[in-house]
Amino acid sequence: MKNILVTGGAGFIGSNFVHMMLDTYDDIEVIVYDKLTYAGNLDNLIPVADNPHYTFYKGDICHANNVDEVMKKHKIDTIVNFAAETHVDRSLMEPGGFIQTDVYGTYVLLEAAKKHGVERMNQVSTDEVYGQVLEGRSKENDRLHTRSPYSASKAGGDLMCQAYYTSFNVPVTITRGSNNIGQYQYPEKVVPLFISNALEDKPLPVYGDGLQMRDYQYVLDHCRGIDMVLRKGMHGEIYNIGSGMETTNIVMTKAILHLLNKPESLIQYITDRPGHDRRYALDVSKAQALGWKNEYDFERAIAATVKWYVENQDWWRKVKEKKDYQEYYQRNYAGRDIKNDKI
Ligand code: NAD
Ligand code: TYD
Repeated sequence: MKNILVTGGAGFIGSNFVHMMLDTYDDIEVIVYDKLTYAGNLDNLIPVADNPHYTFYKGDICHANNVDEVMKKHKIDTIVNFAAETHVDRSLMEPGGFIQTDVYGTYVLLEAAKKHGVERMNQVSTDEVYGQVLEGRSKENDRLHTRSPYSASKAGGDLMCQAYYTSFNVPVTITRGSNNIGQYQYPEKVVPLFISNALEDKPLPVYGDGLQMRDYQYVLDHCRGIDMVLRKGMHGEIYNIGSGMETTNIVMTKAILHLLNKPESLIQYITDRPGHDRRYALDVSKAQALGWKNEYDFERAIAATVKWYVENQDWWRKVKEKKDYQEYYQRNYAGRDIKNDKI
């Protein structure tokens, strides 16, 4: 692993991965290739902008010729694919872009991996491909039960990776992460949305009864897990990466308010998301067997996350001021009933 192509490296997890890799290793070249959609943000990469081992290209993973050019120019031996449309709520409004990037874009990268004979391509996937699990924990060979256009598109990408491993021996691995929290997350995702709304004394819109369970993991734990799989994972294998802990959305919401010393009266229960998955839970023993272990429990992860958004208000205020952000907010929230303006 010497010349790594990080697609989607200007997004939330991708940029954290780039920082971590450049901080940890001085014998690698990191080439970020990102379309800079609404979620891509070059501000996320400012800390590495002058690093001589880092190069940025603006480009779409669906454009095979551009991908090919970068692969050749930088003698890419490793691809880590973070590039995706990622928000379930947006996938309910406009599924087409999800199918395009998350399925077709993954196919373009697999073709590039095959043509250039890479040592490894890791597909960054999600626990959402298992669908909701009301009991027990998802294991890597469980059946996929996708329920949203987002999770269905991600599952399509995963299946294409497995097909390229089986049919063409392309050395792929797939990592399936749970919900990440931490610095540089686009503030329409629930945790930065709630932190920033609370700092602005605006309501925190909780879908349904707020009792949905998520495995909220700290983004750097996830990034370390991906690095571990790149180094020790077996070709053709899938690895779940999560904290293995479960937190309801309402507990997460109250933790944020408590850390910010804001009143619980900011909580607003609103009409639920259609097809809202009730619970995700991962069995992470396979990744742990490689030697990886998460370092942050929920309390530490949420405290570190809140602290960052408090100390970096310019970062999220700049995003929230944009027309695209405000139009999306209006479109997603304006028509929903408020069930309760107090707990
Ligand atoms: P994000 O939305 O913050 O970032 C996605 C990045 O991909 C952006 O920089 C965007 O510009 C780029 N991108 C989108 N379409 C592209 C295209 N066609 N070509 C090139 N670049 C493109 O997403 P994230 O939260 O950082 O998620 C990264 C990956 O991790 C995704 O594949 C997602 O499915 C997966 N994942 C996310 C989570 C989570 O909790 N956020 C959990 C598990 C897995
Ligand atoms: P999200 O960050 O969209 O991730 P997921 O892909 O797991 O749905 O949302 C996390 C959880 O928070 C999910 O159960 C939906 C819920 N949620 C709200 O209650 N209110 C909101 O405004 C948003 C965006 C999400």
